[in-house]
Amino acid sequence: MKSGMSIHSAVTHDVHDERHFGAVHTPIYDSSLFTFPNVADMERAGGDADAFIYSRGNNPTVRALEDRLAELEGGERARCFATGMGAISAAVLSSVKAGDHIVCIDQAYGPARVLMGSYLKRLGIGTTFVDGSDIDGIVSAIRPETKLLYLESPTSLMFELQDLRRCAALARERGIVTIVDNTWATPCYQNPLALGIDLVVHSLTKYAGGHSDAMGGAVVGSAEAIQAMSGSELVLLGAVMLPQTAAVIMRGLRTLPLRMERHQAGGFAVAGYLGSLPFVERVRHPGLTSHPQHALALSQMSGFGGLLSFEAGADRERLERFVDSLAYFRIGFSWGGYESLVSLQEGAAGQPRATRPVLRLYIGLEEPAELIADLARAFRAAGFDHEEEVREDVG
Ligand SMILES: Cc1ncc(COP(=O)(O)O)c(C=O)c1O
Repeated sequence: MKSGMSIHSAVTHDVHDERHFGAVHTPIYDSSLFTFPNVADMERAGGDADAFIYSRGNNPTVRALEDRLAELEGGERARCFATGMGAISAAVLSSVKAGDHIVCIDQAYGPARVLMGSYLKRLGIGTTFVDGSDIDGIVSAIRPETKLLYLESPTSLMFELQDLRRCAALARERGIVTIVDNTWATPCYQNPLALGIDLVVHSLTKYAGGHSDAMGGAVVGSAEAIQAMSGSELVLLGAVMLPQTAAVIMRGLRTLPLRMERHQAGGFAVAGYLGSLPFVERVRHPGLTSHPQHALALSQMSGFGGLLSFEAGADRERLERFVDSLAYFRIGFSWGGYESLVSLQEGAAGQPRATRPVLRLYIGLEEPAELIADLARAFRAAGFDHEEEVREDVG
C-alpha cells in the first residue's frame, strides 16, 4: 500500500471532501460532459490530461475508483474499463505494434488467448504460447522482436503459477513489457508491481465488485504507461467504465479484504474435504502443500481465494450427475460473487494439460460446513460411495 495503511483501512478510509458536501461515498457524476465558466478555463483543461471535460476520458466517480485501485496495487495510476477484457485489450494493444511478438502463458483466460493468438495476427503481431511454470521455456520463446510477456498467476482452471520476480527481471533486461492478470489473488493477496511487473490487469467483475451485479476492468501501472494508454486505447476504443458501475464496484471494494478472508477459509475447508476422499485424484489449490508450486505461491502471495478445481476418477456421465445434484453450488462460469458456483470443464476450455474433465468450484460466502454437506450429498447421489472410505489422516 502506497500510504502504508492496512488494506482494511485503505478500502474504507476517505477524506472529508467539500466538493461533495462531505458525502462519505463519492457521488455518481452521471454527466457525459463538464462545462467551463469561460474560454480560458476550457483551454487550460484541454491541456490537462486529467481534467474533467468529457466522461469518455475522465469522470470523477470513475477517478475515485481508479485512485483507490492504484493505491491498493501500489501503482502510480489506474484506469477503469467497461469489462476485464476491455482492460486486457487496452493493456496489450498499448504494449505492441505491427511486427512485434508476444510471449503469453498457455493457460491465460480464454478470450485473452484468442485476442493474442488469433485476433492480433490480423495486425501483424505474432504470439507464442508457453508453459508458464517453465522459466527456461519462457526464455527460449523470446525473440529479438518480443515486446510483451503476458502472465496470469495463478491461472483460473489449473491454478498454475509463474515466478513473477524472475519473469519481471528477465523481461526488464530485454526491454520487454510485462502484464499480469491479478484477478484471482486480488490486491489483497498479491501485488505484482512490487515484484517488478509493469502492468496489472483485473476483471473487477469478479472479487472486486463481489456481488455478481456489475462488470468492470482495470489496468494499473506507472503514470507514464497509464497516461500513454489513456490517450490512445482508452479514449479511441472507448470501452470505458460508467460512473454508475464505478460506484457499485467501489462499494464492493469496501468489503473486499473481509470477503477474501471468508472465501479463503471456505476454499481451504472444501479443499481439505475433497483431499480426504479416495475417489478425488487431485485437488488444485496453490495454498495446499500438495500443490507442486506451493513454495513459489508462499514466496509471492500472502493469501488464497475461493476458486479451486479437482479431478475425480469417474466417467463424464457420473461427473454430470454430481454437478446436477448440487443444491448450494449453482452451475455457472464466473466467480468472485457471494454465491458458490460449479462448472465441469474439459477440452472445450482449450487449456493444454487439461486432458481430463476438471470440476471447478467457486466457494462463495455460504457456511463452509453446509457447502461440504452439499458436496457429500451430491457425491452420494452420483454414486460415489465414499462415506465409509473417507481417509482419516487428511484434515
Ligand atoms: C482471470 C480472468 N481474467 C479476465 C477475465 C475477463 O473479465 P470480464 O469478464 O470482466 O471481461 C475473466 C473473466 O472470466 C477472468 O476469469
